[in-house]
Amino acid sequence: MSFVLVTCQPGVEAALKDDVARDRPGLRLAFSRPGVVTFKSDDEVSAEVERPSPWARVWARSLGRAVDAEAALAALPADARRLHVFARDPETAGAADAIAAAVAALRAVDDARFAPGVVAEAGELCADVVVAPGEPWLVGVHRHGRGRSPHPGGALPVEVPPDAPSRAYAKLEEAIAWAGLAVAAGQVAVEIGSAPGGAAHALVRRGVEVWGVDPGQMDPAVLALVGPGGARVHHLAETLASVRWEALPRAVDWLLADVNLAPPVLLHGLARLVPAWRRRLRGAVLTLKMNDVAMRRGVPTWLARVAALGFTDVQLTHLPSNRQELCVIARP
Ligand SMILES: C[S@@+](CC[C@H](N)C(=O)[O-])C[C@H]1O[C@@H](n2cnc3c(N)ncnc32)[C@H](O)[C@@H]1O
Repeated sequence: MSFVLVTCQPGVEAALKDDVARDRPGLRLAFSRPGVVTFKSDDEVSAEVERPSPWARVWARSLGRAVDAEAALAALPADARRLHVFARDPETAGAADAIAAAVAALRAVDDARFAPGVVAEAGELCADVVVAPGEPWLVGVHRHGRGRSPHPGGALPVEVPPDAPSRAYAKLEEAIAWAGLAVAAGQVAVEIGSAPGGAAHALVRRGVEVWGVDPGQMDPAVLALVGPGGARVHHLAETLASVRWEALPRAVDWLLADVNLAPPVLLHGLARLVPAWRRRLRGAVLTLKMNDVAMRRGVPTWLARVAALGFTDVQLTHLPSNRQELCVIARP
């Protein structure tokens, strides 16, 4: 009997299970707690297991529960040299102590077994040890590769400057890190839904000229920022539907959208603007609001519509800073 171990942001388990029930008939729900779900598989599960849902943060071959370090080490393959210990629910009291205690216990038994550091390299086997205070550990193994975070638990650490006006700063930096986007000084971005300016702040700090479209107010401090090469943020107080494409730059490298609009409305609006930019566009980072089951179940349709905008490489994930929303990264 083989199992898949999946972790997610606590609170999105229902969306994850719904995806698996619909798309992966070979997987049956085995165990569920906030932040972790396991599935029994008809087929042998390997460390290269396919991502079962975009809501998954870590997906691995499950090696079962372990009550102590000896049991965990006995279950793990010897070549799983990258140790990833993380909390099932990072918000639980005592989670950080539980992680530290597990790392210390595992390394005390056999320190030479694991590589130093936690950041996985492509192709490496990672030992996943999921901890929660007062519970046995859950152990799994996965191979690091495209679409996965190299950090324990699918984390994407971002340092947010104290003057960043919204969590969108972290969201955008996480998207850049997750997908390895080549965002560089001298490029131009258009952002639909730019207020108050967290993402614009992140881009201008990188030297990207930003054109923000939003009927809401931008933070004056973001509008006053001057980044490398003189990069600035320009604000058009318009909506996606009302903005005239002639008011936006002709040459655009990055399209961002983070608006309180349902995905079909957002994609309809973007279809009017994108053709003018297609020649130079390097990619799009789109937040899709998943406020109800119909929007979640429409994901294959929304992705097909993103592809129809002229993107051939379309990826979907749930970033650490996303809530009831998914992040699409699309590249030509
Ligand atoms: C989550 S916030 C965006 C955060 C922003 N990306 C940042 O970095 O700070 C959503 C924004 O979408 C804007 N919005 C809602 N409907 C819109 C529309 N039809 N066109 C453009 N912006 C819209 C709202 O005014 C709001 O500022």
